[in-house]
Amino acid sequence: MLATPRILLIIGGGIAAYKSLDLIRRLKERGAAVRVVMTSAAQHFITPLAAGALSHDTVFTELFDREAEQDVGHIRLSREADLVLVAPATADLMAKMAHGLADDLASAVLLANTRPVLLAPAMNPAMWANPATRRNAAQLAADGVRFVGPNAGAMAERGEDGPGRMAEPLEIADAAARLLAGEGPLTGRHVLVTSGPTHEPIDPVRYIANRSSGKQGHAIAAAAARAGARVTLVSGPVNLPDPFGVDVRRVESAREMLAAVEAALPADIAIFAAAVADWRAASEAGEKMKKDGGALPPLALIENPDILATIAHRGEGRPRLVIGFAAETQNVVAYAQAKRARKGCDWILANDVSARSGIAGGVMGGDSNAVHLITAAGVEAWPTASKGAVAERLVARIAASLDQPETSP
Ligand code: C5P
Repeated sequence: MLATPRILLIIGGGIAAYKSLDLIRRLKERGAAVRVVMTSAAQHFITPLAAGALSHDTVFTELFDREAEQDVGHIRLSREADLVLVAPATADLMAKMAHGLADDLASAVLLANTRPVLLAPAMNPAMWANPATRRNAAQLAADGVRFVGPNAGAMAERGEDGPGRMAEPLEIADAAARLLAGEGPLTGRHVLVTSGPTHEPIDPVRYIANRSSGKQGHAIAAAAARAGARVTLVSGPVNLPDPFGVDVRRVESAREMLAAVEAALPADIAIFAAAVADWRAASEAGEKMKKDGGALPPLALIENPDILATIAHRGEGRPRLVIGFAAETQNVVAYAQAKRARKGCDWILANDVSARSGIAGGVMGGDSNAVHLITAAGVEAWPTASKGAVAERLVARIAASLDQPETSP
């Protein structure tokens, strides 16, 4: 950690702003120097005087303040910080950040910023759940912005409950300290993830594939990187951006994926989220197969290598925690338990990909997932959540299991 880390705290306009005063104290207790920017909405809830009294520094509020611009200037405000912390991060501030708007001091500082950014969102649960906020949060995460919270619980609005409460000042200060130290719960670990479908060539223009989008695997790779891990993502062909801070190796076929996985070892944790094609053409035609009006071309199939089983059954160099997926349309848990034993992996995340799963648009290619986690200890049913939230939960679960060195995962 830096001797005196400098934190630029941007306070947005929400009732949780009252907690930001305590946050200033918590950050200073941890030895940080805190400089505060407040939006005009924030000043409806707390005053610059209070923030300045606690931070022992000028509080900045105006983009076009002649004196402040001459003295420090909005570009220098973030350049002079080691971390930019936004608490509370309102839906409006998140939307501005996601779209690059800069019509006030806070948003201009965020657009000019090159430092790590930590957001502590706070808003009504309906605003947090709104598809626009979901899109903005996903965009910000993909841009490398980190999040702490929001937590679930009672809202300021009477009788309202759900995710949207700002994380507590102590949690935020801890998250800021970890970020400044460049650490997360998976710091020092190498996490290997497979994602996406594979394409199995039939001839130079045709291939066998499936509907996997890679969204779940990519979300896991991104979450592991945010948790401080070094992440290698071996991905089949997908239409997704590379997750921030992840080493991506692109492959087409199952055999290429196996080779890339083996080349990426050793790893501490391996997560096989790819939907690998079970079969490939027994022989790939060197030239495009012609439709000649006669007999249909024969398409003999042979089995692809099972990448998960191959790695899970390795003696030397087996990752300590090997995690597979099981997409089933019936008897989801029973089949997945059998698969866990057969493939030799430690955990299986089982998901119901049938129409009965009730997930709008389906799991394959969709944004949500309802999974069961199957371990040696039993079965956990996880509620339906976005693939990003499933990824976060899996990474937290992995981190917790690694903290217990004596017990098997
Ligand atoms: O046998 P099934 O395809 O249902 O197993 C799914 C799990 O095995 C997933 O974790 C998938 O990534 C992995 N798998 C693999 N190589 C294969 C087939 C599946 O790694 N050839």
